[in-house]
Amino acid sequence: MSLLFEPLEIRGVRLNNRIAAPPMASLSSTKTGLPTADTLENYMPLTESGAGLAIVEHHAVHAEGRTRLRQLLLDRDEVLPYQEDLAGLFSSKGMPALVQINHAGSYIVDEDLLENGWLPKGPSPIRHPRSNIFIMPVGLSLQDISGIPVLFAEAAKRAMKAGYRGVEVHAAHGYLLGQFLSPMTNRRSDSYGGSIHNRARLLFEVCEAVRYALGDEPIVAVRLGMADTLPGSEPSGQTIDDARWVASEFSSVGLDLLDLSGNMCGYEGQGEAWFAPYCRTVKDAAGKVPTICTGGIKNAETALDLLKRRECDLVGVGRALKSNPGLVKEWKKKP
Ligand SMILES: Cc1cc2nc3c(=O)[nH]c(=O)nc-3n(C[C@H](O)[C@H](O)[C@H](O)COP(=O)(O)O)c2cc1C
Repeated sequence: MSLLFEPLEIRGVRLNNRIAAPPMASLSSTKTGLPTADTLENYMPLTESGAGLAIVEHHAVHAEGRTRLRQLLLDRDEVLPYQEDLAGLFSSKGMPALVQINHAGSYIVDEDLLENGWLPKGPSPIRHPRSNIFIMPVGLSLQDISGIPVLFAEAAKRAMKAGYRGVEVHAAHGYLLGQFLSPMTNRRSDSYGGSIHNRARLLFEVCEAVRYALGDEPIVAVRLGMADTLPGSEPSGQTIDDARWVASEFSSVGLDLLDLSGNMCGYEGQGEAWFAPYCRTVKDAAGKVPTICTGGIKNAETALDLLKRRECDLVGVGRALKSNPGLVKEWKKKP
């Protein structure tokens, strides 16, 4: 198992092993997006788990960028004292932690968010393919789009003030940046639609704004939705070739870590390590940027194989680690 327990340094931050805890929404915030005692309790076992890296659940960069009512927010300075408590759980245990920052765009899960006739916005006025709620979003104007990188950059600065080691920009699972990447939700005919070069423009603008706002020191990661369909199924919408192109461009925007998952297909698959075939090809395209492969990893042997075959640099273990916080220690004892 020694490969799993090899340290990795990212922008001067030492990860003690190759096991990352991926972001998992706890639905535990107040309605105003503040962490509660339940949020802190939810993360306590993870801080003791010995995982090399924690990526804390998605926080919306704006109240109108939430997918659920009880989603954490990094939209204003008033959240800082509460966020310091959450980030402090990890720093006090010496566990490097990033926080994921997100804008839901048209992917609304709680109808309560639509009170008062508010309508979400997306790249184009197209019903979100993953949402159960019938909403026709409003298409974002060029002026609306120009404000989005600023929202991510401001949220990222708050994350650093709270005490995280960096941020992860959410561009997967069909949220706003994923909506731009996907031809299923992006039918724009301007410079943000059409070719993958255009569909990825907002993602790169967000990454550049975040890197510029944070300076050289912190880690900037992206969770990239690699395709709209799972490996082995008929490609439709955003393809793995699109993801390879995006990955190949990342080193030029100062990205430190590429966390790989699905886009409109979400994160559920069959068997173990269902995204491995995609992760392999996207890692090749990403060059020196380290990658995380997540999705159904439950056994040390599976995790080790992914590293041995150089399909990723870190393995993301979500539900298996959540249901057994002693997992990393158990894996370490294996011969
Ligand atoms: C309850 C739950 C909440 C999740 N919340 C997030 C989230 O906030 N951000 C994100 O990028 N992925 C989220 N995910 C996806 C996980 O990060 C992960 O990719 C997925 O669970 C697959 O990995 P696993 O099979 O190891 O659990 C969530 C998954 C679950 C089950």
